[in-house]
Amino acid sequence: MNQAREHWGSRLGFILAASGSAVGIGNIWKYPHMAGQNGGAAFTLIYLICILVVGLSIVIGEFALGRKTQLSPVGAYLAIAPGSLWKWVGFLGVGSAFVILSFYGVVGGWIMNYSFLSLKGDFSQLTGNPEAASALFNSFITSTWAPLFWQLLFMMICIYVIVNGVKGGIEKWSKIMMPTIIVILVILAIRGLTLPNGMTSLTFLFKPKFEDLSASAVVLALGHSFFTLSLGMGTMITYGSYLKRNENLLNSALWVIGLDTIIALLAGVAIFSTVFALGADPAEGAGLIFVVLPSVFPQLPGGQIWGTLFFVILFMAALTSAISILEVVTAYFIDQKGWTRIRSTILFGGIITVVGIFCSLSLGGNLNITWFLGMSFFDFMDYLSSKYMLPIGGMLMAIFIIKRWSVNEFVKELHTGMNSTKISSQLVTILLSIGALVVGFIILNEIFDKLLGFPIIG
Ligand code: TRP
Repeated sequence: MNQAREHWGSRLGFILAASGSAVGIGNIWKYPHMAGQNGGAAFTLIYLICILVVGLSIVIGEFALGRKTQLSPVGAYLAIAPGSLWKWVGFLGVGSAFVILSFYGVVGGWIMNYSFLSLKGDFSQLTGNPEAASALFNSFITSTWAPLFWQLLFMMICIYVIVNGVKGGIEKWSKIMMPTIIVILVILAIRGLTLPNGMTSLTFLFKPKFEDLSASAVVLALGHSFFTLSLGMGTMITYGSYLKRNENLLNSALWVIGLDTIIALLAGVAIFSTVFALGADPAEGAGLIFVVLPSVFPQLPGGQIWGTLFFVILFMAALTSAISILEVVTAYFIDQKGWTRIRSTILFGGIITVVGIFCSLSLGGNLNITWFLGMSFFDFMDYLSSKYMLPIGGMLMAIFIIKRWSVNEFVKELHTGMNSTKISSQLVTILLSIGALVVGFIILNEIFDKLLGFPIIG
């Protein structure tokens, strides 16, 4: 507890680590399809507005809270509001980390297995045959041992990175993996666009189709702008707590948001140019990644290499997100309980892996845990965290800044490390209030949908 706090080695290292957390499988399997289906560039425009109005102020709020207190979530709330109930918002974040990483680790394992299958050339049997690809995927995820083996491997890599600390683990690996992701995505996008018909993807993704833009598309854009920036569980508080006081928070946050958005757009171009060039149907989520793409890649000359490159960068995107989740848990035990890094990482990384085993088994017939909402344990963990825990955490953090910390103190923290720009407290209050209201609305909308069977909007 009394050891000096670790800090990032450089500003670039911090920006790459934070954008590494933000850039995850959400950028690659959710955003492109959402944009294509909901109005192309018109959707992207709304999404950018959401990111700037809701996302930016909450990212900066988390960074500032972390840097000010030099503590991870629970400690950060306690430092500013000692003895109050606000510490529970911090605990909610640590709890969300447990829930998210348990199933994220399983998906990370699937991605590793698919990288390996592609490398071995196994996708060649799936050429142009999405049914076969779908059968392969289903039999893999519902089997007992194979997914557990890969999940274990993925979690061991996560634990290895986090045991090595902020500079020697998170920063070092983010500095290697983030540039690799960008370079390979650019190559894949060029490869896709130069295929006959590859340019169709640009129309799908970027042609403004205002007629496809519905109220529910706006709700989607809002929810996604929050999710894609990894907000609401204190990841950015934790990463901010390793900042020194001379960093410009606004500038760093803009970099993180910019990189997150650019990578989502590049992924969209890379994936859909290939899918359209080969006449496949675009799908979303796991179906796009594990079914459509494996049946499409082998049709390309050199498809084994393209497929492997794609799954390897997807693995990197998943890993840089997963380590940021594990770091929230580890940092709690270091900051609040005075544990060593190695002890807290191995113990809690291990517990999360065990919970993940249940997530994985719940997809097969062997251990059919169906929860009261009629979904598998795996889906339940996903639902609970992305629809409730994260939005509630983000909303309460914005309220905390306005009601308890005070916007003036927050703005003072923002001005530290910034030379010229003056930020107005009124503007910050307005943005944070909009952020809290909007996120609150998304939660209500979901509750309505679950209880009454229809959403308020959507
Ligand atoms: N931002 C990640 C993605 O786009 C997903 C995510 C949501 C996340 N909340 C998080 C990642 C918290 C790390 C920590 O896939």
